[in-house]
Amino acid sequence: MSTLRSTAPATPEPAAVPPFAVISGAQVQRALLGRERQVMELVESAYRLHGAGDSVNPPSYFLRFPDRPSSRIIALPASLGGQVRVDGLKWISSFPGNVAAGIPRASAVLILNDHETGYPFACLESSIISATRTAAFAALAADRLTRGRRRPTRVGFFGVGLIARYLHTFLAGTGWSFDEIGVHDLSADNAAGFRGYLERTGVGGHRVTVHDSPERLIRSSDLVVFATVAGEPHVNDLSWFDHNPLVLHVSLRDLAPEVVLGSTNIVDDVEHCLKADTSPHLAEQLTGNRDFLTGTLEDVIAGRVFLPTDRPLVFSPFGLGVLDLAVGKFVHDEVVRSGELCVVDDFFHELRRYG
Ligand SMILES: NC(=O)c1ccc[n+]([C@@H]2O[C@H](COP(=O)([O-])OP(=O)(O)OC[C@H]3O[C@@H](n4cnc5c(N)ncnc54)[C@H](O)[C@@H]3O)[C@@H](O)[C@H]2O)c1
Repeated sequence: MSTLRSTAPATPEPAAVPPFAVISGAQVQRALLGRERQVMELVESAYRLHGAGDSVNPPSYFLRFPDRPSSRIIALPASLGGQVRVDGLKWISSFPGNVAAGIPRASAVLILNDHETGYPFACLESSIISATRTAAFAALAADRLTRGRRRPTRVGFFGVGLIARYLHTFLAGTGWSFDEIGVHDLSADNAAGFRGYLERTGVGGHRVTVHDSPERLIRSSDLVVFATVAGEPHVNDLSWFDHNPLVLHVSLRDLAPEVVLGSTNIVDDVEHCLKADTSPHLAEQLTGNRDFLTGTLEDVIAGRVFLPTDRPLVFSPFGLGVLDLAVGKFVHDEVVRSGELCVVDDFFHELRRYG
């Protein structure tokens, strides 16, 4: 009698399915509080990984609704390598009608997926992560883009919602101080609220002026931050920028193509930014070329581009999903360290699929 010997390899030990956790906005905020420099550095290293090709960051997908044309939900899938090694998806909605109903316009979650198994291992409240990574990246850009020119002492915030507040926190937390802070918003209540926030935080001995006129805000600021929700350009006059300010064009659709074409333009990622009717995208449609782009922030950091000081300097960041992943993974690891991770027991069920 012969013994039948199996030639099949031994069944590998099953990999453990990672636990699935939910991280609330309160936990996210605690993990990030007072960490402006650290977050700016981790956002910079994520951006460098992206520049070096150690990331996957496909175009964002815009879900729009014929019956609710002003609303949208954007999906930003991404994968980041280096030491971070995480995949995931940011899913962020903008429903402007919410504001009249008394709740914030934007809401978001971030899903983190395990690099080895693909399993989602965390769902994080993500409006704070999104505002944080945006503010950290803008503060990084403000620093790098002003190294060859006089450091601005007068900042003007054009549109003062959540992003403007986070941006101010990050500028202050990474060493900026201003003699004058200008504020302009279509809503007098929001302008007054932002002024109250500036007075409460009281960083530096700055003077705060609320400007009714957008022209006066721009002319009296050498660092201008656009954080409105404008869907199409409303600032058309290049002469308002005669003093050649640095413009952080975070909301992307405020500047007419003429203003873009009269400026030096830096973006975070060319393919991402020249989409979805951003001001640089409109400038490309008008001219039929991309000659008006000087380069990316990565080019600036690496010293590959020259930034003239005799024109306005406009930074338009589309906002990359890899930055959300970097900040989200940092938050997750901080919450694990604090022992406060809320795991959802049995989230992944029916793990025996083959009998
Ligand atoms: N580029 C990025 O990576 C990135 C990331 C996050 C948010 N954003 C953008 O930043 C912008 C601000 O986001 P938020 O969460 O602070 O919004 P928010 O709704 O909290 O605040 C927007 C503010 O802008 C004001 N405003 C709207 N249109 C204006 C106009 N034409 N002139 C002056 N003020 C105007 C509103 O009254 C409000 O106070 C949005 O456009 C958002 O899409 C960009």
